[in-house]
Amino acid sequence: MAMCVRKYDIARWTLCLGISLLLVLVIATTGQVIDEENTATTCDAMDGTCNNEAKADATLYRSDLPASYCGSDSDSGETTTTAKDLYRYGGTAQAYKPGTAVSPNVCPETLSYESLYKVASWPFTRRTSKTSPIMNFSLKLYGCSSNEDDSSHSSSCDCSPLVTTKTVVEIWQTRPDGLYGSPRNIKNNNDDDECRATIPVDTRTGTAQFTTVAPGSTGIMGGLGPRSSDYWPYGPPVIHILVTTPPTSNEKNNDVVLYAPLLLDLPALIHSTTLEQRSFSLSAFDWRGHAWSKRKQSKETVPPFDITSWNINDEKNRIDIDVDIFLERIPPPVEGTIKTTASAAEPEFCPSFTYILPGALFLEPIAVCAKSLLDFFPM
Ligand SMILES: *[C@@H]1O[C@H](CO)[C@@H](O)[C@H](O)[C@H]1NC(C)=O
Repeated sequence: MAMCVRKYDIARWTLCLGISLLLVLVIATTGQVIDEENTATTCDAMDGTCNNEAKADATLYRSDLPASYCGSDSDSGETTTTAKDLYRYGGTAQAYKPGTAVSPNVCPETLSYESLYKVASWPFTRRTSKTSPIMNFSLKLYGCSSNEDDSSHSSSCDCSPLVTTKTVVEIWQTRPDGLYGSPRNIKNNNDDDECRATIPVDTRTGTAQFTTVAPGSTGIMGGLGPRSSDYWPYGPPVIHILVTTPPTSNEKNNDVVLYAPLLLDLPALIHSTTLEQRSFSLSAFDWRGHAWSKRKQSKETVPPFDITSWNINDEKNRIDIDVDIFLERIPPPVEGTIKTTASAAEPEFCPSFTYILPGALFLEPIAVCAKSLLDFFPM
């Protein structure tokens, strides 16, 4: 019986890989179309260091950010959130699962030494070590809106701490070994949601604090391959963050205030001995399906986050990291069209016209958009 199941699995996978290989050609073409307008960025967005000038006063008020946060000119006043909003800055949701438990711990700290740490700093090999660093994050959430001062025509927007909104911050990532939590990937694992959590947000300060263990790098199988398999090309490890807010009303004039949902991949490539932040070499050669189909940042936009501090505690094998996250204010929704949480926003998560491409599959949350594929990607 077990034998049959196994054979069946192999057949399925052979078929799946065959189709994927064929479609690689298709992706090669579409991938280029998607990237066309996104030529080389002026800074390496992956290391979050390109907008230093915006760091001056992270705790109080920020008005020196480019208009790209503010949903102004380029957005033609559309009033519903769509997949476009969600993926605007690039992000991967393949292993997203809705409705994870509220907890300030994403991966249990014990994984730091219970799991191997497999990290790639370029596409062709992963380096394996026995322990992975513990990461202690403090996220500060900002709401950004257009500068209303028409006379100046300044291309800036105002960002202030998001304090009154019931912001929902969902985090997921691979284990240190580069695999997403999955019964089939983890021996004796009873917890499907390993390394996934909804983070408590302090609405008085607009901050969210969580600890986790450094994620590993995924390869061409996206960290979801059968029997824990994955192959080059590898990519940089990331922590996925989805931030959604319900509409609130402005106390002063009763306007509806709404922010576009934000899906981002926070870079988490760490130097194995110094614990310093690194950037991925040959980042232009990230050939993984989800990387190809992912929206890239254009020259005009800066990442919707800023890593403002990275403090290494060698003795404790821990890094304390402060990150500012910028949500973009969007026009109020037409009554009744807006959905307030990611799980409720199911259709927005699934731009179904790209469904047949493996690249699209790898971009979209499998558990939300294509449940039947869980046979292939058992999460
Ligand atoms: C994590 O960092 C916060 C400040 O950013 C600090 O208050 C907290 O004690 C740290 N947690 C651990 C486990 O070190």
